[in-house]
Amino acid sequence: MTGNSTLGIIGYGNMGSALGERWRSRSRIKVFEKDASRIAALAPETVAATLDALCAEAQTLILAVKPQDLDSVLTRIKGSVGHALVVSIAAGIPTAYLEKRLGPVRVVRAMPNLAVRVGKGTIALCKGAYARENDVAFMQELFALLGRTLVIEERLMDAVTAVSGSGPGFFFELVQQMPDAEWDAFARNSFIPSLTVCAQKAGFSAEQAGLLAAATAEGSIGLLRQTGMPAAALRDQVTSRGGTTEAGLKALRENGRLEEAVKAAVKRAGELART
Ligand SMILES: NC(=O)c1ccc[n+]([C@@H]2O[C@H](COP(=O)([O-])OP(=O)(O)OC[C@H]3O[C@@H](n4cnc5c(N)ncnc54)[C@H](OP(=O)(O)O)[C@@H]3O)[C@@H](O)[C@H]2O)c1
Repeated sequence: MTGNSTLGIIGYGNMGSALGERWRSRSRIKVFEKDASRIAALAPETVAATLDALCAEAQTLILAVKPQDLDSVLTRIKGSVGHALVVSIAAGIPTAYLEKRLGPVRVVRAMPNLAVRVGKGTIALCKGAYARENDVAFMQELFALLGRTLVIEERLMDAVTAVSGSGPGFFFELVQQMPDAEWDAFARNSFIPSLTVCAQKAGFSAEQAGLLAAATAEGSIGLLRQTGMPAAALRDQVTSRGGTTEAGLKALRENGRLEEAVKAAVKRAGELART
């Protein structure tokens, strides 16, 4: 699949490390991370000393830093991206923004969710103006190692952020008082049908909506079972201050309806998107 190509991961935090851990069984990875404690356990040959060294070696660059750290990374790599494929997982950063900052480079944008950590993620992908179809296919194959993938139009990225990105947070909120034995039936009979309707209202086809809702529920249950963490603790992990999940949870607590939660999260994603 990936031949001799090297995947360069910039930022090895929650997401970067979840991706790297899965991908390194199939591909050569190289990591640049500014916090030394996050890469202490990696083999030295996996670590790049500088961003320039990473860019010189990698044919694919994965941008896995927080959105607020992205601009400094873009400034640093602008002259050395070369012909690399640039893949961003940063929430709310459109492909056009990356192309504006980096020039006419091939960009793929992806929105994973927390369940990639247990191999049950939902990952939506879209392509920038200069990327080729086979760039998307290449990344879809890689992300498939971490869960279910879906190629979407970029205009639906805010919606997918609300549905599959924040969806686990809503699931955890709703099941926090529920015994383990009831999670699957709740998902099947209530959460998946409701989230499917929400996703359709947010712009997805019936087929996409069904896939997103089922994968989001499956990933949420996978996280609960495989981590053994309480639902409330997992919910807090997916809830960044001022983010889409927080906005959705507020609406969910106010009126108890998943549809209102998704609507509020879509709205917040739109407010956060950078132009
Ligand atoms: N977490 C999720 O569930 C999730 C879901 C979907 C998308 N995303 C996206 O994934 C991206 C990463 O999120 P995360 O939760 O993995 O963040 P994170 O845990 O904070 O990881 C980011 C890492 O990048 C490092 N870093 C910052 N600036 C850097 C630089 N210039 N060069 C190299 N490394 C640098 C950070 O170091 P310091 O801590 O020292 O700054 C940190 O270790 C974000 O853009 C987010 O929108 C996350």
